[in-house]
Amino acid sequence: MKSIVLTGIKPTGTPHIGNYVGAIKQAIEMSENSEYDNFYFIADYHSLNALKTSEELKTYTKELACTWLACGLNPEKVVFYRQSRIPETTELCWILMNVTPKGLMDRAHAYKASVQANLEKGADADDGVNMGLYNYPILMAADILLFNTKFVPVGQDQKQHVEMARDIAKYFNKKYGYTFVVPQEKIQEESATLLGLDGRKMSKSYGNQIPLFCDEGTLKKLISSIKTDSSLPTEPKSTNCVLFDYIKVFGSPEKINEMEKRFAEGISWADAKKELFEMANEYIKPMREKYNYYMEHFDEVESLLKLGEEKARVIAKETLERARKAVGVID
Ligand code: ADP
Ligand code: TRP
Repeated sequence: MKSIVLTGIKPTGTPHIGNYVGAIKQAIEMSENSEYDNFYFIADYHSLNALKTSEELKTYTKELACTWLACGLNPEKVVFYRQSRIPETTELCWILMNVTPKGLMDRAHAYKASVQANLEKGADADDGVNMGLYNYPILMAADILLFNTKFVPVGQDQKQHVEMARDIAKYFNKKYGYTFVVPQEKIQEESATLLGLDGRKMSKSYGNQIPLFCDEGTLKKLISSIKTDSSLPTEPKSTNCVLFDYIKVFGSPEKINEMEKRFAEGISWADAKKELFEMANEYIKPMREKYNYYMEHFDEVESLLKLGEEKARVIAKETLERARKAVGVID
């Protein structure tokens, strides 16, 4: 039997190159390994917490679905779906709540960070905290356990959530007998955090991102706005900078080598940015064309998602039935 690899991304903003490098690229690479069966999904219920309007949710879900496909997700190989179309997830979530200690949720980083921020400004500890935020890790455990997942490729920031899913699986198996595969996280160390235009972590919360599929003109403008040091045009440049980090993402090994030499010899920042734009645009262009195609033909994407959702529900129903039997609501 092949091991199941599953991961989800929340549709909370327009995908940027940090999301591509840190999450999407490696997930696609894992789907090319024939040892695995892969389940990749859009965690739309998880994003309700972060979004203000239903229109935002629709836009970001569409953009994320088109992004996955444009980046090379093969829907014949990967089961590709929207979380909200698998109602078994939320039913399992309720069952799992009953083996999840409240103390475990009290220790979740995202919840603790909200409490900390409230206390610092002198507000009530739980000010603005809703149960969607508080129970977030249990919904994520349901996503994972529903598909008999063995490996969950995620960034460092999601490690604790996968550990919680593992704990919840163990609590359930201990109380009711073996029911769930116990999952483990797969943290990609090499895909370290990509920095944004201002040198902080690239994140939509900081507004320092390069959208993965912005048009050529915008890409050029954003690259020319990268902060650089004040060394003169002919002076040697350090490769320890955001600009060079991006060169490493988009350049071929030969090109990276060549650029290393030119940095040492003293390339001007303007020329370095021009080179980077050429590399990035060449890399992104074929994917951008696919992205624009899917955005304009969303009915095709919708059909692919529906197909994935049908496949996903077959397994979801089996697992949920096992859990329902285990707890005793059905024979
Ligand atoms: P954001 O910080 O922009 O809100 P998310 O938290 O929605 O991004 O992240 C979605 C996925 O992209 C996660 O798996 C996360 O680890 C990855 N990711 C986000 N920003 C970066 C970054 N700057 N470098 C590498 N990976 C990132
Ligand atoms: N919480 C994840 C994030 O913020 C998204 C997510 C939801 C997820 N369910 C998941 C990731 C299940 C892996 C497995 O990025």
